[in-house]
Amino acid sequence: MESRIYPCMVAGTGSYVPEKIVTNVDFEKIVDTNDQWIVERTGIKERRFAADNEFTSDLATQAAHKAMINAGVSAEEIDLIVVATVSSDNIFPSTAARVQVNLNAMNAAGFDLEAACAGFIYAMDVGSKFVSAGMYNNVLVIGAEKLSSLIDMQDRSTCILFGDGAGAVVLQRGNENTGRILSSVLGLDGRRTDFLQIPAGGCRIPASHKSIDARLHYITMKGKETFKWAVTYMVDSAKKVVQNAGFTMDEISLVIPHQANSRIIMAAAERLKLRDDQIFLNVEKYGNTSSASVAIALDEAQVSGRIKRGDKVLLVAFGAGFSLGATLLEW
Ligand code: UT7
Repeated sequence: MESRIYPCMVAGTGSYVPEKIVTNVDFEKIVDTNDQWIVERTGIKERRFAADNEFTSDLATQAAHKAMINAGVSAEEIDLIVVATVSSDNIFPSTAARVQVNLNAMNAAGFDLEAACAGFIYAMDVGSKFVSAGMYNNVLVIGAEKLSSLIDMQDRSTCILFGDGAGAVVLQRGNENTGRILSSVLGLDGRRTDFLQIPAGGCRIPASHKSIDARLHYITMKGKETFKWAVTYMVDSAKKVVQNAGFTMDEISLVIPHQANSRIIMAAAERLKLRDDQIFLNVEKYGNTSSASVAIALDEAQVSGRIKRGDKVLLVAFGAGFSLGATLLEW
């Protein structure tokens, strides 16, 4: 039997952020920081925090619902749900299982994928392979996080950075006349796992009074080192994915980078010789939402008209691991 590879397109996008806005001034009341420092060093002005009874699966469901409406796809038509997250409702079962029930997408298979801030790009790549192989028609890919449940409110160097939110896409088999995924690059450098991690809660350090007292269940980070590698990895993967597809950086209409820190984005942009109009930035509104960041930004760029038919759109991210990924889309 002849084996075929089908083109895969983004048929719809959606995003959702919780209502509660937490400003830099709010953090001045919690830790020794100030608005000026946070804005100058990170570009972040505010972020969203989910309510106590609002979980990663709820944020994911809202974003997914919007993406399905945008794509014109019903819940019964969803074949697969892939949720990228580092803040799953539980260690198991998967957040995808909760999303399936929330959406009533009972024909879907589903699983979670963890590649930290590169999670959405990893999940899109994995999801697209099911479409390209002809196995599934409609794949729902979601990046969702409730990072407010994982940040150490006593650590000023990390607590000001992160926020909650979710973004989603519906992937479908495309044809000659639709925008599609042109190429993607994934990578991992496991030599620096201690730069950015949650030390406890896994099998290395199970929960104990000692681990809780030592505050080991929260995000810890070596900021300066992470910053340096973030720029290097973003530049390398962006170059590679554009080159693999046979384009030059100049031909890219919009670059949607992981929104961790505007200084990281601008340092990478400088090395890639990008013009200002080629860069999408929304970190000032949401902070770093890890797996959700690129997904939210993609939806906002689409909804606000920054992406037009025929545009080449580059998604690029790095995260704990270090994980890295880049995807080139033609809209
Ligand atoms: O998704 C990937 C996740 N992570 C990242 O992408 C983050 C990468 N790293 C960064 O974005 C930056 O390293 C930070 C924003 C985290 C920190 O910026 P920095 O320019 O590297 O600052 P620093 O860590 O070198 O700290 C400079 C000073 C220190 O004080 P001293 O030692 O010079 O007296 C810090 O204690 O700033 C101090 N500081 C703060 N001051 C006010 C650290 N955090 C804060 C704060 N408010 N929130």
